[in-house]
Amino acid sequence: MTIKILNSEIKNVKGDDYTIVQPCNLYDCFLSPKVFVGPFCEIQSCVWIGEKTRIQSHSFICSFVKIGRECFIGHGAMFVNDLMRHGKVDDHDHMKETILGNNVIVGTNATILPVSICSNVIIGAGSVVTKNITEPGTYVGNPAKIKNSNKEFMK
Ligand SMILES: CC(C)(COP(=O)(O)OP(=O)(O)OC[C@H]1O[C@@H](n2cnc3c(N)ncnc32)[C@H](O)[C@@H]1OP(=O)(O)O)[C@@H](O)C(=O)NCCC(=O)NCCS
Repeated sequence: MTIKILNSEIKNVKGDDYTIVQPCNLYDCFLSPKVFVGPFCEIQSCVWIGEKTRIQSHSFICSFVKIGRECFIGHGAMFVNDLMRHGKVDDHDHMKETILGNNVIVGTNATILPVSICSNVIIGAGSVVTKNITEPGTYVGNPAKIKNSNKEFMK
């Protein structure tokens, strides 16, 4: 019997002037200045996070996610890069990217499938985003649908 126990680690995180609260598992990603990462997060390779964005505790940011500046990723938000469309777990080469603009708020426990979300969007707690979002506003539910367009929210 073989038992393997690995420690979480913070390895090859590029960038400067960021804050990480341990324990976390982060590797081969880029954090811009003033980024905050709360405890119990995983941020995988090829992730890029923009200035002043906050990643709250227990979030999972998978490979190929790009998050703009001044975003808020709520506790336990989950990103997806493998749709498992072919009935199996895909390899790294088939994983899909997700892009969030600036000033995007992702509510607690939301799930973001591989999509693009424009700037100035709120995703409600527990929502599941399955399609690209191209218009600023608040989106809720599973699948997430627009609740209102927040003109006042736009910067
Ligand atoms: C999406 C959100 C911003 C909407 O807030 P709001 O504008 O005050 O909305 P209301 O509470 O007035 O709700 C309006 C409608 O949307 C529905 N709704 C609100 N949030 C929802 C959500 N997350 N998922 C599904 N439906 C939601 C309400 O049930 C209500 O439905 P109705 O019109 O059929 O009665 C807020 O509910 C939310 O989810 N915020 C995220 C908070 C969060 O995760 N914070 C993290 C740090 S603690």
